[in-house]
Amino acid sequence: KRLILIGPPGSGKGTQSPLIKDEYCLCHLATGDMLRAAVAAKTPLGIKAKDNMDKGELVSDDLVVGIIDEAMKKPACQKGFILDGFPRTLVQAQKLDEMLEKQGLKVDKVLNFAIDDAILEERITGRWIHPSSGRTYHTKFAPPKVPGVDDVTGEPLIQRKDDTASVLKSRLEAFHGQTQPVIDYYSKKGMVANLPAEKPPKEVTIEVQKALSS
Ligand code: AP5
Ligand code: ZN
Ligand code: ZN
Repeated sequence: KRLILIGPPGSGKGTQSPLIKDEYCLCHLATGDMLRAAVAAKTPLGIKAKDNMDKGELVSDDLVVGIIDEAMKKPACQKGFILDGFPRTLVQAQKLDEMLEKQGLKVDKVLNFAIDDAILEERITGRWIHPSSGRTYHTKFAPPKVPGVDDVTGEPLIQRKDDTASVLKSRLEAFHGQTQPVIDYYSKKGMVANLPAEKPPKEVTIEVQKALSS
């Protein structure tokens, strides 16, 4: 399967991705995760992306299209992939269509994590992540066994620099202004499954499974 996960910051894309990935043996391509790794490693890409990311703005289409083009070629992605956080602009959506068409491929489904903005601040400000695995926790909704420590490795958890209430405002603006048109674009093609993303994680997983089996 080739899937797109789309939704505002904190809507649960990164939380549901590992579950979908394991069930269907797909690779998980999260542009945000890849960009954060590049920023941490201070690569040329990371240096270009950092300022936009810290402000909650989108980075340039060319940068993200380049990393997705590269990542989709990995052998692990040949059976299918989950695009988490891409495409986020109409330009990115069109570039993706072109890249797939060249290989005679297409996207099977777009999962739209529909949720009210008002819920997102609590989700974002309570999030803790284990950077090397991408595992995500929440102080209230998904607490680790030991506060600040990853359940599996025992390594420390960190908070994302952009996970503040004020940067969230900019991220939401980018979502409504630049990414909502992408949802409309796929809706017109009849490709979108709307998920009630405000429900508890396990219930959202059930909704994802329903959407993918129909
Ligand atoms: P990115 O990393 O993609 O961030 P985002 O879109 O803001 O999404 P998040 O990762 O914040 O949300 P999520 O839906 O994954 O939430 P999660 O599951 O973790 O992008 C970051 C930046 O990179 C962008 O601002 C931009 O600068 C740049 N960028 C990335 N892609 C780009 C692109 N294509 N073009 C241009 N720029 C790009 O859940 C959040 C919290 O809630 C967690 O703590 C979790 O435990 C909890 N939670 C999850 N589900 C539930 C639930 N059902 N109930 C209760 N709590 C829940
Ligand atoms: Zn992720
Ligand atoms: Zn995410």
